[in-house]
Amino acid sequence: MDYSELKIPRHVALIVDGNGRWAKERGMSRLRGHDAGFENLMTLSKYILSKGIEVLSLYVFSTENFKREKAEVAHLMELFVLMYRSKLREFQENNIRVVFSGRDEPLPAAVIKARDRLVAETANNTGGTINFCLNYGGRAEILDAVKKIVASGEEVRDWQEADFAHYLYQDLPDVDLMIRTSGELRLSNFLLWQNSYAEFYFPKTKFPDFHEADFDQAVLEYTKRDRRFGGINKK
Ligand code: IPE
Ligand code: IPE
Ligand code: MG
Repeated sequence: MDYSELKIPRHVALIVDGNGRWAKERGMSRLRGHDAGFENLMTLSKYILSKGIEVLSLYVFSTENFKREKAEVAHLMELFVLMYRSKLREFQENNIRVVFSGRDEPLPAAVIKARDRLVAETANNTGGTINFCLNYGGRAEILDAVKKIVASGEEVRDWQEADFAHYLYQDLPDVDLMIRTSGELRLSNFLLWQNSYAEFYFPKTKFPDFHEADFDQAVLEYTKRDRRFGGINKK
């Protein structure tokens, strides 16, 4: 699609959801759904950043997802390691900077190692940022920020919102467009601070089937939204 007529969001946040149901519909195990989702993730991310979106936040594992069966969690962890290792070159070739949001504990050491290497090697890339939200929780992020502030001993009396935001996991612009695939209508603890004034878009498509044309539809819809931020837009 020609994006020149569209309003381009600076920060797109995507809740990658529906992998399990996608697999179930096909009589396959949930794990195959995650495989298909991950197959789609890199292609779609490259497309999104190629359209001039500066930041793409991807919710790939929540702090709550550790409640799932051991085998599913282990498979997802293996997929993360595989992706961060095998796609390193592709991130480089596409000039993509990668950052992460989330807690270390209780991530396996192999995930942390692959993550840290990817972050270090892509740190100087300038063709857009992917923010992997891995072992991420929105409340955990706010609580962790408060703990950092208290530990710093800073005087907060005159602080503005931006001073607080500086202590979140990453210093990124607010989310403009939040997409959750699979038809679920909730945030599930995703970027609570940053999504404050985001436009929400909830396609029914399950993530492994969510491709470039589906993303185009999201941006088309976003272009039509009247963002008022509490004020009045004179047309
Ligand atoms: C999202 O798909 C992927 C992760 C949570 C990592 P789900 O696994 O939540 O798939 P559904 O929602 O059960 O279909
Ligand atoms: C949110 O999806 C987390 C990710 C997609 C990574 P879930 O599938 O875990 O959320 P709920 O349980 O439906 O709220
Ligand atoms: Mg889900």
